[in-house]
Amino acid sequence: MNEAVSNLPVVRGNPHWLGCRCVVCDHEYGTDYDGFVCSDCGVDGILDAVYDYAAIATAGSVYDAGLGGLWRFAPLLPVRPAADHPAWTVGDTPVHFADRLGDHLGLRHLILKDDTCLPSASLKDRASAVAVARARQLGIDHLACASTGNAAASLAVLTARAGMTCTIFVPASAPRAKLAQLILHGAHVIPVDGTYDQAFDLSIEEMAKHQWYSRNCAHNPLLVEGKKTVALELASALTDGFSGGHGDLPDAVLVPVGDGCIISSVAKAFIELREMGLIEKIPRIIGIQAAGASPLAQGWAAAGKSQKDMSGTEILAAIHPVKATTFADSISVGIPRNRVKAWRNVAATGGSFIAVEDETIAEAIGLLARLAGVFAEPSGATGLAGVLAAMDQGLISSSDKVAVMVTGHGLKDAGAGMKNLDMPAPVPPLPSGG
Ligand SMILES: Cc1ncc(COP(=O)(O)O)c(C=O)c1O
Ligand SMILES: [Zn+2]
Repeated sequence: MNEAVSNLPVVRGNPHWLGCRCVVCDHEYGTDYDGFVCSDCGVDGILDAVYDYAAIATAGSVYDAGLGGLWRFAPLLPVRPAADHPAWTVGDTPVHFADRLGDHLGLRHLILKDDTCLPSASLKDRASAVAVARARQLGIDHLACASTGNAAASLAVLTARAGMTCTIFVPASAPRAKLAQLILHGAHVIPVDGTYDQAFDLSIEEMAKHQWYSRNCAHNPLLVEGKKTVALELASALTDGFSGGHGDLPDAVLVPVGDGCIISSVAKAFIELREMGLIEKIPRIIGIQAAGASPLAQGWAAAGKSQKDMSGTEILAAIHPVKATTFADSISVGIPRNRVKAWRNVAATGGSFIAVEDETIAEAIGLLARLAGVFAEPSGATGLAGVLAAMDQGLISSSDKVAVMVTGHGLKDAGAGMKNLDMPAPVPPLPSGG
């Protein structure tokens, strides 16, 4: 361990975290298991963290009052820091009651959970915070991931703040502006002469060789636990800290879906809160994919009423890869790696998956900006685009209380925001000397 790391506060494990269970075959692994996926099912066998909910409830609280940001929910995370560090505290993002936008859409209650305010301006910081803490608990000061997008930016920002090192594998074709941000934050960037999938495979091999800690959400099951806190914060804010106001929870929560990590964890948060008796009702969690990258929405529609009763293997067979095409690059995913967890958790909430056209996403960017003062990148606005589609399809009604997760800031992809803009023509200045 290098000196910078040893100067940081020590990280403890969470005694209530029991281990992980495979979402395909239900095989259970203890906390000492050092693999990321199920040893029987391979890459499809994504693991899911399991906690002793009765013990957490008996211990009196889902909160750790001594910690800030997302660490407030440390009893429901696989790792807890011994002390907070203001520079890399992540969480406590605003909850907006977006009445003007709601009125415009014909919805009585519209709530936005605004994760554009996090340090690297996307929800991904919640996963990176857990990755940084877990790596430090294991005595590893070097993290790595394969990404060109928000996960990479998030890892670069948080490792810079924590004084740790990161290596990021990117396809060599990645936009220079995105690479520049990573390099500026001190990340080691390795351009791979190949596709994203090839960069991902190389990253896995190099991480194993050098014993770097993996911040690839698609296979490290502990990272999605950090993402869960976006929903824990929302539920806590709407129920006055779980003080019995469960009537104030939303009827539906809309979440953009790429690999399916965020939606798995949002649904899981509500399922866990009910398990612990802190809420009675679980909102319907509705996953929104761009129509050009919608394997989950397509598989869901084709499965009909059997969606809730399908085994992990049946779910795998029901979702077919697509060639992804959408301007919402963060959710441009042909085969979601967390698809089984996403499907199972959404089904358990009575929710569903639907697809929206790129034009609707572009419309949602404008509505959020104009009527709520929130600027979102295309993927970040896809939840709101889903409200338009879900109302059309009768999945939500005008009297429902609806919450939307806004997951990434518009300045990350300002070009997309300019898509439908009418730029005003310049006017002449005042005549000089006049
Ligand atoms: C801004 C934003 N929204 C939504 C998503 C989709 O999340 P997931 O891949 O976990 O489904 C991503 C993933 O990169 C993202 O960056
Ligand atoms: Zn398995």
